[in-house]
Amino acid sequence: MTSLIGPRPIGWLSTWGPDDVSNLAPFSYFAALSVAPMLVGVSIGMRREEPKDSIVNIRARGAFCVNIVTEDLLEPMNATSASVGPEVDEFALAGLVRAVSDRVDAPFVAAAAAVLECEVRKEVDLEAPNALVIAEVVGVRLDGSLPFEDGTMLVEPEALRLVGRLGGSAYSIASDILRIPRPEER
Ligand SMILES: Cc1cc2nc3c(=O)[nH]c(=O)nc-3n(C[C@H](O)[C@H](O)[C@H](O)COP(=O)(O)O)c2cc1C
Repeated sequence: MTSLIGPRPIGWLSTWGPDDVSNLAPFSYFAALSVAPMLVGVSIGMRREEPKDSIVNIRARGAFCVNIVTEDLLEPMNATSASVGPEVDEFALAGLVRAVSDRVDAPFVAAAAAVLECEVRKEVDLEAPNALVIAEVVGVRLDGSLPFEDGTMLVEPEALRLVGRLGGSAYSIASDILRIPRPEER
């Protein structure tokens, strides 16, 4: 299934852990769910029958940031998928500079071209080991140099080079971009 549904967006989540140690981890069970309000969903599994650090932190703080993964951040994103304990600062592990949100109780990746600042609204029981977290995007940080498509609030995809996950260790970079107008509304 994971090699067929793709490329999947990657929610690269940053959270505060115990003692304010910062945590970063990628999740490709991640999706945009609604635009008004802006909602996202992320499904976080278990590691050796224990909850992963990200879900522990999200439950404790009720917030996270989604750092948008662009081509330049592919290697550090992958580095933060390492199974390390909650005492390890994963910004330092991946050689990333940390910034701190003033809207939600979470840090974010200073080098990310775009960041979604999220407040948790609900945790859904999937009757599976994964926890599905639904959160509202209450802030969007954008690099001021990103261009918008004329007359819209859409960031030009050519400028972003977004990374998607395929099966296993395969990724794709959005660069072969087509524009196809929607059929007329009747
Ligand atoms: C690109 C990518 C996508 C991933 N997607 C998920 C996912 O959707 N759910 C999940 O539980 N783990 C996923 N993982 C594995 C987690 O990133 C990994 O278990 C990580 O160590 C969790 O970190 P944490 O304990 O700090 O939360 C993914 C790994 C990579 C490299």
